[in-house]
Amino acid sequence: MNIPDEIYQRVEQLHEQLNYHNHRYYVLDDPEIPDVDYDMMLRELQDIEAEYPDLCRPDSPSQRVGAAPLTKFTEVKHEVPMLSLGNVFSEQELDDFDRRCREVLDIDAIEYVAEPKLDGLAISLLYKEGLLVRAATRGDGTTGEDVTANVKTIGAIPLRLSGKAIPAVVEVRGEIYISRKGFEALNAKQREKGEKTFANPRNAAAGSLRLLDSSITAQRPLTMYCYAVGKCTDGVLADTHSEVLEQLRGWGLRVSHEHKVVKGARGCYRYYEKLLQRRDKLPYEIDGIVYKVNRFDQQQTLGFVSRAPRWAIAHKFPAQEKTTTLLAIDIQVGRTGALTPVARLEPVEVGGVIVTNATLHNQDEIERKDVRVGDTVIVRRAGDVIPEVVSSVVSKRKKGARKFKYPTHCPECGSDVIRIEGEAKARCSGGLVCPAQRKENIKHFASRRAMDIEGLGDKLVEQLVDENIIENAADLYSLSKEQLANMERMGEKSAENLIKALDKSKSTTLPRFIYALGIREVGEATARSLANHFGTLEKIMSASSDELESVPDVGPVVATNIETFDHQPHNRDVINQLITSGLHWDDIDVTHSEEQPLKGKTIVLTGALSMPRSEAKDALQSMGAKVSGSVSKKTSLVFAGADAGSKLVKANELGIPVLDEASLQLLLKGNLSVFPD
Ligand code: IVH
Repeated sequence: MNIPDEIYQRVEQLHEQLNYHNHRYYVLDDPEIPDVDYDMMLRELQDIEAEYPDLCRPDSPSQRVGAAPLTKFTEVKHEVPMLSLGNVFSEQELDDFDRRCREVLDIDAIEYVAEPKLDGLAISLLYKEGLLVRAATRGDGTTGEDVTANVKTIGAIPLRLSGKAIPAVVEVRGEIYISRKGFEALNAKQREKGEKTFANPRNAAAGSLRLLDSSITAQRPLTMYCYAVGKCTDGVLADTHSEVLEQLRGWGLRVSHEHKVVKGARGCYRYYEKLLQRRDKLPYEIDGIVYKVNRFDQQQTLGFVSRAPRWAIAHKFPAQEKTTTLLAIDIQVGRTGALTPVARLEPVEVGGVIVTNATLHNQDEIERKDVRVGDTVIVRRAGDVIPEVVSSVVSKRKKGARKFKYPTHCPECGSDVIRIEGEAKARCSGGLVCPAQRKENIKHFASRRAMDIEGLGDKLVEQLVDENIIENAADLYSLSKEQLANMERMGEKSAENLIKALDKSKSTTLPRFIYALGIREVGEATARSLANHFGTLEKIMSASSDELESVPDVGPVVATNIETFDHQPHNRDVINQLITSGLHWDDIDVTHSEEQPLKGKTIVLTGALSMPRSEAKDALQSMGAKVSGSVSKKTSLVFAGADAGSKLVKANELGIPVLDEASLQLLLKGNLSVFPD
């Protein structure tokens, strides 16, 4: 086929650009362009390749979408076996390991590289002349499975190495894993589809990598960190492990930034303690630390024992999964009436914390997992995520253990439980008759990001509702000091403070007030969009669904929720009562402001903000701004929170205006004067 020159050139250009942005996105976690721009380029490449199939190379960025399903995986023999690691569980055992190494090497102190032990699965990537030609699982260490088609779909894995001095043949090893966020999102999706959830990120990664249909793998949030080189010919590798890691990074491979060169067992132990403290904050799960003797000549002297190297060891962290007994299943009722089954457990230490309650998510999950009261269950706690019951140990089930019957009536108010088709959670139909919903509503109303009523704790709200002192949020403002002082665990002073806090909260903003109303699925960002669009509460309340849907962020579901809320006379009463009590805010002038006052502006957020980054991003986008992950000449403005780092430096270098979080808050309230023109 005759292929025009400019097509050749365009394909080259697209490869180069797509690979560059892919590397920035997946390997450096620092995207430069919005996803849509990437998608457009990929689409263009796919179109060209469809027209000129000869131009479709095996390392084309288009090859990441998955190939035709396989019927089985073929076997791969590892030329250099993939070994396992010995374990230590204490400082004493670590000392013993270090002493053995020192004795063999006959030296006083050893330099180690300490690195996270990722909880995923080991992979071998074979690059020939820089091109990824084969990817294999570890298998039994000698023979693994060929998972090349699946691995090619993983964005973090380059299809072709870049950089200098790439060996003719190099086999890179590392761990394929799924981040905590990726895992939560994947399980949420599975739950939504009514499909089986994964027990932990490791299982999810293993399950996703071993799918025969790579187009499904392509949709799984797999990523990889590289940690070693297996076979290498016609190439020069550095003399130490730490330098090789840098070499790998230089070839475009993803290498963790957590590894550190440390000295002796003391250095190892200090690293262990520090990382253990940060364990829950890492974006991925680790089950310990790996220490490796840094110098390769020393590694060689130390050699191997059976299937593990003598120059490396894994130091295990406390387990994040434990078994315990399920004592009871309680049903909790949330603000919107959603029922959540909660497992009451025989207290058990999981990953360093005592766990007594764990979530069971919803009715389907209990049925799918067939968890029964009295069962021995596996409990998992990882990071900030709520502990959950993963499964029952069926072999230990006691005779006569009965299936859990999901309630047909609300345990709090007795109203019917309904389940809307397509929704995972059943709901109490009692609405404001249900004290549980009223309590949650008031708690939400008082919360920090809503009316911010300091000193009104959850327990107090529960007492006030249980004792029929208040019924709704508006009643809070008619509470007297005496009434409050009489409550449990309240004194004169705290009652007085709470009255002051209630008074202070009366002066609020329109977005906060809308958010505080607790309309289903109207979060902070949506509340802000509504406020900025309509300017006044009356306009929002009287808007038609079409008008509501014209607001960025508002879809048909949210519009219906707002309308339903408006149509309840009770809600109108509460709002009127609140305004009569003195609640006030400034309306927003929308007559002069454009629909999207930040249209054409590119904003970068960096450093720690007190509001979730995603909320700020949503809000800015709803005002028309583009929110980018990195600073460039095109950036209009940078908002820097606490401890801002390289992006702040870059902004200063490029002379881009930098503002603090207070200015961001002002801007989000619609105050455009913070914006330097
Ligand atoms: S080195 C010869 N480094 O742990 C040493 N392994 O039991 C080979 N793993 O299946 C492994 N993180 O998948 C090494 N930073 C790391 C690791 C790591 C996780 C896994 C690996 C292997 C197992 C060893």
